[in-house]
Amino acid sequence: MRATARALALSAALVAGVAAVHEDALPSYHYGARIEVECMKRNFETGEHLQNENHEIEWVPFPDCEETGKPLEFNYGTEGEVNCTIPFVDDPFFHLLEFYIHSDAPLACRLPARPPSHVEVVGEKVPEQEYIPLVFALAGTLQLSHIHISTHLNVLLHSTPKHHRRPHDSGVLDSGIAYSTSPLNHKEGSSTRKLVIGDPLPLSLSVRWFPTPALPKTEGRVEWQGLGGHIYASTVFYSLVSFIAGCLAAGMYTLGVVLPRRLKGRAMGGATPLGHGLNGGGVGVGNGWGYSKRID
Ligand SMILES: *[C@@H]1O[C@H](CO)[C@@H](O)[C@H](O)[C@H]1NC(C)=O
Repeated sequence: MRATARALALSAALVAGVAAVHEDALPSYHYGARIEVECMKRNFETGEHLQNENHEIEWVPFPDCEETGKPLEFNYGTEGEVNCTIPFVDDPFFHLLEFYIHSDAPLACRLPARPPSHVEVVGEKVPEQEYIPLVFALAGTLQLSHIHISTHLNVLLHSTPKHHRRPHDSGVLDSGIAYSTSPLNHKEGSSTRKLVIGDPLPLSLSVRWFPTPALPKTEGRVEWQGLGGHIYASTVFYSLVSFIAGCLAAGMYTLGVVLPRRLKGRAMGGATPLGHGLNGGGVGVGNGWGYSKRID
């Protein structure tokens, strides 16, 4: 009876193992890997999405950015400010912007969840590329002759949960969103822009990454410290507190145990309690995620 149960458990483990290997065989993004943005192709007169002859939605690269001469792209795990100026808003694009701002049609884009797979075994099918949706929630107001558009967007990108061994670990995309900030602020120096046909559209994007689909916790505790591994004041504080606690413990041990022993004339031996105390100072600092300073 027991043997049967053990055999069952073993086969279950084997099955789980096979599934895990299959998942691991798919590629994941290295830190900094390029991720290109594609958007749904739309009819600029109706706002409807366009399909090919197989009734599949047509996707086109995001418009070229003046800064790079290429369509917009993100880099896996890389946070920062990205500028993408669309040099010339032509008539069709202007009409599409009106649809986006009015929410008649979303600026619906997508990102490949993983880098493309390569077939290594002859005859094996390439796994189908999966995408995550990335909607650019552009905000603004429509006027008769022009539009006001909020050109600063926050871009939040999540990785699927995994045990991160290093601050700059590889991973797979889980989800994302991009949205205009402060659309009601029309003051001088704000990022709302009056736009007419023929103008450039200077988008500025603040890109942030989350290591899991969860949001950082509040209640005074920051659970997430970014894929790049930021150092925060709280981390420094806790490190300091635990270091001091470790020193105190070591000192007390020396005073209470080592000194009396020494006074009795006994040798301390190889494993010194002082060394132990200092190692103990690291307890409670965390799991190693987000400690090292960003190098780039
Ligand atoms: C983006 O553009 C703004 C405004 O032109 C500029 O001040 C800023 O330095 C640019 N940032 C980057 C990362 O190029």
